[in-house]
Amino acid sequence: MQIMQNEQSDRTMDIYMFICIHIVFFNVINCNPCEVKGTTANCRDRGLTKVPDDLPIDITTLNLIQNRIAVLPNYAFSRYKHLKELQLDKTGLTLIQKDAFYGMKQLSNLSLSKNKMDLSNSSSADIFKPLTSLLELDISENDNIPEVASISYPFFGYMKQLSKLSMDLLSERVFEQCGFGELVNLKAIYFNRCYIDHLTNKTFLHLTSTLEEVHFYNSKHITDIESNTLRPLVNLKVLRLYKFCSRLDLALKLLYPYENKSISMIEFTEVNPGICDGPLHFPSAVIVTQEMFKHLQKICIKELILMEDGIVDFEPKSILWYEFPECFESIILSKNRFPVANGFKTAELLMLTRKLVNLKYFDLSYNPLSYDNTESCTFNVNDSCYTTNHEHAEKLNNDWNIRNRTIYISLPPKLEKLRLSNFLQKIINNNLTVSIQNSSNLKYLDLSYFLYNSIPDLMFLHHSNVVFVNLTGIDSRLFVSRKHQPLLESARTVILKQTQLGRTIYKFGESTFQAIPNVTTLDISSNNIWYIPIKAFSANKQLSELIMTYNLFAEIPISLMSLSKLVHLHMEYNMLQTINQTMRTWLENQRIRNNGNFVLGLTGNVFKCDCDNSDFIRWMFETNVEFDNKKKKYKCRLKNRTISTTVRVHNEFHQLFSNCGSQYWLLVGIVLLSVFTVLTIPVAIIINFRWRIVYWIYREFKTVVQKRLKQDFCYEVYISYARDSGNWVKDSLVPKIENCWKMAVCVEDRDILAGGSFAEAIAVSMENSRNVIFVISDGFKERTWTSYEIERAKYEKYTGHLHHIIIITKQVSVDNIPTEFARFWKDVMFIEWPEEDSDFGWDKLKIALFQQDK
Ligand SMILES: *[C@@H]1O[C@H](CO)[C@@H](O)[C@H](O)[C@H]1NC(C)=O
Ligand SMILES: *[C@@H]1O[C@H](CO)[C@@H](O)[C@H](O)[C@H]1NC(C)=O
Ligand SMILES: *[C@@H]1O[C@H](CO)[C@@H](O)[C@H](O)[C@H]1NC(C)=O
Ligand SMILES: *[C@@H]1O[C@H](CO)[C@@H](O)[C@H](O)[C@H]1NC(C)=O
Ligand SMILES: *[C@@H]1O[C@H](CO)[C@@H](O)[C@H](O)[C@H]1NC(C)=O
Ligand SMILES: *[C@@H]1O[C@H](CO)[C@@H](O)[C@H](O)[C@H]1NC(C)=O
Ligand SMILES: *[C@@H]1O[C@H](CO)[C@@H](O)[C@H](O)[C@H]1NC(C)=O
Ligand SMILES: *[C@@H]1O[C@H](CO)[C@@H](O)[C@H](O)[C@H]1NC(C)=O
Repeated sequence: MQIMQNEQSDRTMDIYMFICIHIVFFNVINCNPCEVKGTTANCRDRGLTKVPDDLPIDITTLNLIQNRIAVLPNYAFSRYKHLKELQLDKTGLTLIQKDAFYGMKQLSNLSLSKNKMDLSNSSSADIFKPLTSLLELDISENDNIPEVASISYPFFGYMKQLSKLSMDLLSERVFEQCGFGELVNLKAIYFNRCYIDHLTNKTFLHLTSTLEEVHFYNSKHITDIESNTLRPLVNLKVLRLYKFCSRLDLALKLLYPYENKSISMIEFTEVNPGICDGPLHFPSAVIVTQEMFKHLQKICIKELILMEDGIVDFEPKSILWYEFPECFESIILSKNRFPVANGFKTAELLMLTRKLVNLKYFDLSYNPLSYDNTESCTFNVNDSCYTTNHEHAEKLNNDWNIRNRTIYISLPPKLEKLRLSNFLQKIINNNLTVSIQNSSNLKYLDLSYFLYNSIPDLMFLHHSNVVFVNLTGIDSRLFVSRKHQPLLESARTVILKQTQLGRTIYKFGESTFQAIPNVTTLDISSNNIWYIPIKAFSANKQLSELIMTYNLFAEIPISLMSLSKLVHLHMEYNMLQTINQTMRTWLENQRIRNNGNFVLGLTGNVFKCDCDNSDFIRWMFETNVEFDNKKKKYKCRLKNRTISTTVRVHNEFHQLFSNCGSQYWLLVGIVLLSVFTVLTIPVAIIINFRWRIVYWIYREFKTVVQKRLKQDFCYEVYISYARDSGNWVKDSLVPKIENCWKMAVCVEDRDILAGGSFAEAIAVSMENSRNVIFVISDGFKERTWTSYEIERAKYEKYTGHLHHIIIITKQVSVDNIPTEFARFWKDVMFIEWPEEDSDFGWDKLKIALFQQDK
């Protein structure tokens, strides 16, 4: 009945589509009319070929982005006299007729970017005449670039109110001819594309001096820049160069007119000739000299950004040398590649940090550079260099306050935010500890992927007020093991992604999270965690949001029950198959305790949708606990192994679960099979019968049952082993299984293809294997993938895919057997391999492989 209804509605849809297409074709009405909300009309991407004339006349905002309106005819908007905002970007405009904007006296915002307009057409000269109230105009990224000789723009001088203009920089003559001098309210100009190759003293001569912001984006190769280019812009406060294809030293010449003046922001991002080499560009290496920085150093700058400029090194008195250091509030030098603390730089950096009395934000992220410091002085500059290493060291000791192998660094007193993410430098080649002093204002610290020769001991001397710490990518053992850490003690938000916490929790157990007593938001995703000790969170009473995505949890850890303030739990992308009654009750109570709020993230888990788990599915749709997926649509595996969704299962609940318990025939089959195996195997052992035949019979018989289960395996056996048992695996184990027993084997070095995600490849191979053998040797525990493979195997075993997990130990001490196995000891078969290769071991393995499931 339902199916018929569906078909019927499908047909109705088809008819509707058919009519629709015809109507569009004949341009009678539009199927997809504009959406009008209040006085805002949204006609974005409606396939319109002309300005609609049926909208309410009082609309003030009209969005026509991404349509196909090639020509704006005269009086196109005469109906909409109240329009304040009009967007015509990406509509394929080629021509605007002279009176197209007639009557738009109230328009304040017009954007025409990314079109193909021929603005040099003489009939367009007066198109802007009616727009007397316009404040913002965007005519940038216009693809129709005329020959330089004929470049012209309509007259801009009519728009006396204009304060923000975005355009392409085609020719300096435009400023002279098109009335730019009359734009007395113009504050900001954005050159979204620059096509000229020279910037001269005359280029901006005709721009108004009211300009406060100039932005250059995406320039063609600029080969020459004269120092007085920006001289006419006496009120400039913001200068931004972004993807500016020019030598850095040329671009820095632009700053000459601002010596001894104040500027709020100077940004030079991707200023490098390398950036015009197309998408795969390599910035050319720049060594900053004092000469290059001579103008920049003399400006009082609030915010300085020098990002991705290809800087690889600097000379004395350049990057760390300013005349007005007290002006800085923010310095961003990320994505370059220069060293900051060897030779003279240490002293300069130190001197500068003392003078940055107003600095609030410092960012030196993505500075990938690894070198071994020689601690020798390479530059000879009178007051900041030291001729011998010995003297140097002494001066350094005084400056850096090196006592007892600890460097005490004083942060600028007002510093609130410090980012040293992806900072890869070996600073000093010994065991110095870095200790940060004077940090009482520091609130935000990002040290993700900080690769130093060792992580600095972030022992803040007095006390810390840091609220946010990002330690992504740093080995968690380094900070968990420290006793006293004010930095982590005060933190409210702590990000510990990819910090190998799985291993750390194993080692430090319940004390792992004691270092962060005041945390409210904790991110421990991507850490291969499958287990958290029961009292692990006893010190984290304030925790309200816990992010545990991309781990290996098969259940919601019971240790969370001590977190009474928890209201948001992210369990996405784990291995949850169900949530049992205990945890469901806790979730319900938690919701009540927190005024009816509790959000649980479950996407990326595959739940079990069989008779055993029907009560969980029912709970999911009855509870008031909120889920990340509002429709509660999660993947779920039916008992015949088909993947379905929880929503479908819930809708068909009674059909699916009505015959729970009537699956006895399968049981009978399994019992028979067990009896068969139990009978045949001992017989076979006793007379050392031909294993292949036994296995063949066994397999054929088994496929009868398995056909019903629709299981396909590529491999019979997946073998996990460490390097030190590699020879035995390759020379004895694999040949025996493959050649003598004729079973397909998957071994990592041979069968798992390089490329892609290795974890994913392992997961797929294991899913496609009938059995898993772990060959445990002394090196096994230290292998990168050991924990992952064990967890995967356990998961496959529990989902019923895997038949046997067999562990072969080869002269291994008990300490080197991964403890992970302990948690499912009863599900594995354990073979202690005899010292000499005897038949005894092989027989045991045969039995183990061919035995029926427990
Ligand atoms: C541009 O101005 C600079 C600085 O005053 C001057 O040195 C240079 O000669 C000028 N260029 C031209 C072409 O006049
Ligand atoms: C900047 O000020 C210094 C000292 O006050 C002076 O010597 C220098 O000439 C000034 N520079 C400019 C470009 O005005
Ligand atoms: C250096 O350490 C020693 C003992 O470890 C201690 O006696 C001395 O006071 C320390 N010196 C400083 C300057 O902290
Ligand atoms: C660094 O410390 C380790 C052990 O703590 C020590 O073996 C090594 O010699 C030290 N290196 C230097 C340069 O002090
Ligand atoms: C933490 O650092 C990582 C790596 O730099 C970054 O991807 C992530 O967005 C940061 N997290 C937060 C919350 O800032
Ligand atoms: C953090 O918690 C500890 C108690 O564990 C407390 O003594 C300390 O004052 C707290 N710090 C902040 C900044 O709240
Ligand atoms: C329920 O699951 C938790 C972990 O999520 C487990 O610790 C507990 O033993 C389970 N309770 C029952 C009754 O199985
Ligand atoms: C598994 O069972 C579901 C519902 O009982 C059914 O819709 C689906 O077709 C079955 N899949 C297979 C492969 O038998």
